[in-house]
Amino acid sequence: MGSVNVDTVIRVPRLPAPGETVLGTAAGEHVGGKGANQAVAAVRLGRRVGLVGAVGDDLHGAAVRDALGAEGVDLVGLSERAGARTGAAVVQVDDSGENCITVVAGANGDLDAAAVRAAADDLQGAPVTVVQLEIPDDAVATAVALAGGTVVLNLSPARLVGDDVLSRVDVLIVNRSELAFLAGEPEPETSVQAAQMATRLSGPAAVVVTLGADGAVLVCAGVVTEVPAVPVERVVDPTGAGDTFTGALADALVRGASLEDAVRWAAEAAAIAVTAAGAQSAMPTRDRVLAARPGSPS
Ligand code: RIB
Repeated sequence: MGSVNVDTVIRVPRLPAPGETVLGTAAGEHVGGKGANQAVAAVRLGRRVGLVGAVGDDLHGAAVRDALGAEGVDLVGLSERAGARTGAAVVQVDDSGENCITVVAGANGDLDAAAVRAAADDLQGAPVTVVQLEIPDDAVATAVALAGGTVVLNLSPARLVGDDVLSRVDVLIVNRSELAFLAGEPEPETSVQAAQMATRLSGPAAVVVTLGADGAVLVCAGVVTEVPAVPVERVVDPTGAGDTFTGALADALVRGASLEDAVRWAAEAAAIAVTAAGAQSAMPTRDRVLAARPGSPS
């Protein structure tokens, strides 16, 4: 469950400083939004995914519906909001592979508890429910309360959520800055610091911290597992890598993998997602992830 956006992606030699104008080198429009991205990531890896979300009754709404349907995402839970504009994001990506993203919620902001309750049967029956935070608090709380299976919350973009929500979360996925925000502490510089900070969080049964080139850390029942980063020759575009990680982790959990194996699988999928431009266009299939494993015939 989550946001659906149209991303305007602009390539720039370097990200502009405040007040600065930078000449871009390319621009394009793509389907994005953390909810849609995570759904597509899991579908590419072979899962059946229903997306609960909202689009506007504008041209973008129709276009993203077509694109997500063509990917094989079940859109019964994707409502159309009269008079609303589909969510929009401006994504700037520089030549070193850094990005910055601005999101306008649009119809995502209209996703209310009633719309989530309309998908109650699916939420109760799904082995895994994945939620992020580009949708209103009510929608998040309702989905988490209705979910009958494993609840994965990607705390992105970071904002505080109620203890009632956090205590229902089985797996919390955060990056370095999201973890720092939630803990109310400075950003961890090392994986050891990240693990210590995650250990101090109360609520979720397990916490996964994604650390980019430093890999990922899993903290579950006080046990810390460090998962090394998968080497990447050149980061072309990190947009959607976190979404690929989350979608792939959900995919592995549905297949019955242990949490540790799910984090390893997610790291492998995300490492591929950064090697090509775009969020969804760079997401790998299951065969692609398996073929990239050391020792696989190429
Ligand atoms: O995580 C990447 C996504 O964040 C983009 O697709 C953009 O739409 C924002 O939701």
